[in-house]
Amino acid sequence: MMFCGREAFPKMLLLLALLVHVNAFYQNAYDVTHERTEIEYYDPTFSNLSCNNYKYNRTTSTFTLTVKLKMDLTEGDLVMVTGHKWLSNRYRLDILQFNVTVKEGLRFKYFDIDRMMHSCTTPPFEWPPIKGVTYTVRNWVPDSTKFPPGMPEGRWKIAMRVVTVDGKHVFSVNWYCALKYKLRMESK
Ligand SMILES: *[C@@H]1O[C@H](CO)[C@@H](O)[C@H](O)[C@H]1NC(C)=O
Ligand SMILES: *[C@@H]1O[C@H](CO)[C@@H](O)[C@H](O)[C@H]1NC(C)=O
Ligand SMILES: *[C@@H]1O[C@H](CO)[C@@H](O)[C@H](O)[C@H]1NC(C)=O
Repeated sequence: MMFCGREAFPKMLLLLALLVHVNAFYQNAYDVTHERTEIEYYDPTFSNLSCNNYKYNRTTSTFTLTVKLKMDLTEGDLVMVTGHKWLSNRYRLDILQFNVTVKEGLRFKYFDIDRMMHSCTTPPFEWPPIKGVTYTVRNWVPDSTKFPPGMPEGRWKIAMRVVTVDGKHVFSVNWYCALKYKLRMESK
């Protein structure tokens, strides 16, 4: 079995596409560690965001992220997700790319997002988000078992861009993490 090769990646995406509307899966082959979260951009006429990374305990780090919307979102508004993998000293766009509506995204079962939005956010991030309310994500430590099976090992930047159906860029947040297999498998 090989998990870390590039060849395995299109298969993973296919699997992700097939499972995206199914809630039941579990992986226990790798661990995911949060490195940091950053706000890349927000348009102050549509939203206001702030972020702070800190130590959850001696060995684990986490972040606080606040999001305040100054507009109403509609059911067609999207989160565009792109995965960038650390290689030769920079993050390079990799094949992990997909769009979900914000509505679906708030209940996304992958990447432990559903729990983040509901158990780690005050008030819980329900659809539709309420204009003028400050949503605060706090103390989220990723549950690795909720990540898609077969993700390649390494350091990742997961970029999330929220855009309206008519193309307005509301905000972009980047999440950096490291993914490490518990058992190294030789690929040769
Ligand atoms: C965003 O919110 C912070 C504090 O919550 C405030 O200090 C800042 O002025 C706000 N920025 C904009 C552009 O509204
Ligand atoms: C820190 O918190 C994480 C997540 O709850 C836990 O897995 C880990 O064992 C904790 N480490 C220490 C040193 O308490
Ligand atoms: C996501 O949506 C944008 C805007 O509609 C589009 O340009 C892009 O190709 C889509 N990406 C994927 C992976 O479907």
